Amino acid sequence: MLETHPRRALTGAFLSLFLMASAGAAPPKKAAKSSSRLVAGLPSEKALALGERMYREGILPSGEPLQAVVSGDVPVAGTAFTCVSCHVRSGLGSFEGGIVTLATNGAKLAQPRYWKFPNLLPEERKDLRVQTPMARPPYNDKTLAHLLRTGLDPNGRELNYVMPRYDLTDQDMAILTHYLWSLSAKLSPGVDDTTIRLATVITDEVSPEDQEAMLVPLNNYVARHNTHSSGFGNRMYLSIGGKEMSGAYRKLSLSVWKLQGAPETWGRQLEAYLAKEPVFALLGGISYQDWRPIHSFCESHKLPCLFPITDLPVISETDWYTQYFSKGYYQEGQAAARYLRSLDDPLRAFRVVQIIQDGPEGRDLSAGFLETWQELGQGGVKEIRLGKGETVNAATLRTLLQQEKPTAVLIWTGAQCFEGLDQVADSLDRPGFFFMSSRLLGPKLYGFPEKARAFTWFTYPFRDPKDEPNVSKYANSLLAGLSRHQPETRVSTRTYSLLQLFQLGLMDMDRNLYRDNLLDRLGMQRDQVLPDFLRLSFGPGQRYASKGCFIMQLSPGPDPKLVRKSDWVIH
Ligand code: HEC
Repeated sequence: MLETHPRRALTGAFLSLFLMASAGAAPPKKAAKSSSRLVAGLPSEKALALGERMYREGILPSGEPLQAVVSGDVPVAGTAFTCVSCHVRSGLGSFEGGIVTLATNGAKLAQPRYWKFPNLLPEERKDLRVQTPMARPPYNDKTLAHLLRTGLDPNGRELNYVMPRYDLTDQDMAILTHYLWSLSAKLSPGVDDTTIRLATVITDEVSPEDQEAMLVPLNNYVARHNTHSSGFGNRMYLSIGGKEMSGAYRKLSLSVWKLQGAPETWGRQLEAYLAKEPVFALLGGISYQDWRPIHSFCESHKLPCLFPITDLPVISETDWYTQYFSKGYYQEGQAAARYLRSLDDPLRAFRVVQIIQDGPEGRDLSAGFLETWQELGQGGVKEIRLGKGETVNAATLRTLLQQEKPTAVLIWTGAQCFEGLDQVADSLDRPGFFFMSSRLLGPKLYGFPEKARAFTWFTYPFRDPKDEPNVSKYANSLLAGLSRHQPETRVSTRTYSLLQLFQLGLMDMDRNLYRDNLLDRLGMQRDQVLPDFLRLSFGPGQRYASKGCFIMQLSPGPDPKLVRKSDWVIH
């Protein structure tokens, strides 16, 4: 069920009482300093870049690793203990294995920290009936350097030895602290005291039905969220302690950014939208084309994009701003490679032919297969690319089988090859393994010729269809007003899932409305069971939440059913 905002806000706020991880977010004076000033003899921008490298990679301005001392006296290279690995990218800290990693971002360092009600803004705290002592006063350059070198905070408290001590020169220390003062110092664009602004992107080839299937649940969610503010008028939330919970609440607004024409022009259109209306993040979005131009735009503007509805994501281990459901077609290709490898005697050499339909789907399926196949130490893959309108018929298949004598054939095309497959099914020289993508076939999958079913395997990136209705039914709660529900497109169910996940991130951000914090908090979520994908899992910097794919076969008979042949994650 869709959990309501106030309840999550409540648990979120109670948790943070124990975690002490967050406080108010008034921008510190430090952050206002002009960027043209010199830091340790360097222009501010240059110092920030070097400080960021120290924080994220543990590398000193000289290129050497930072020296860290852990557990009292064990010196280790700071590249193994980067600040980011504990304090996370936004600097807001984390809670793991019973250890609270305090925040180290500019806004928090510039404010006193309290054990009790750590989230209150300074002006709210004045109204507390019982004033409690500070855990520590605000830091300044000197006390911050002292803490990082000795582990002693300005109150004289010795920090837990989990937090390493760092032996840094004055110059390097100035660069690191300059970076910390700037880190999550001001709330991100797209938020103010009352509202978080969001947008969703739609490209112009998307059918009106699919646009509606995404927009109806998105708008229903926003409308429902925005009625919750009235709940915060209640006495409990107006108490000072309650302020912590209600203070994080913002209304949401959602704009629809429609992109027209050639993908090369999308970047410019997006720039214009963003300039006109700065938003905090992109929520969902839908396109049948490559997501890359939107991905690149988000990367260059440091704009989070959560769970766009695309099967053509950008595959990258280092990009940060777009969080996808899965690797799409690429992931199906990977699953085919792993499954094929697991099928047989590991010493046997496969001769594989990939037949690839022109277009981004075929490109990603074959790349996913080939890269994984090579990682598994396999070779011997022949690729045949079909031009526009070219199909695989019985004659082309026969020639291919005679010439190449493959042991496995991957046909990354639509249903036009069915007839050919039916005709070669009885040939003695046909290979034992054929693979196709269920996603590319769509509903036509169920018309697959009976004779070829025993030797053809399908990549299927979703939950077993017989288990799906039990989970997907929850999405109905957001579908009021949708003219026709088409579960087979999985657009409205994926929208439901992305909203659930966005909500988790939103709650866990509390008042710390920084774009990187949203992605950090998502990275800390537990596994989620939501429609479509069997399991969604998260981790710091992980950007593809569904990590599995089933391999299926079709049962014999006039009304074929999918039969599972693999685990979700294929090793
Ligand atoms: C292995 C995990 C780890 C690493 C690596 C680490 N920290 Fe920490 N840090 C912590 C923990 C845990 C605390 C809280 C300790 C406590 O409360 O006793 C902390 C506390 C701090 C504090 C004090 C915050 C306050 O409110 O008083 C600052 C500042 C800080 N770290 C900065 C850094 C910087 C900068 C780096 C990298 C150069 C770094 N930390 C690396 C775990 C880590």
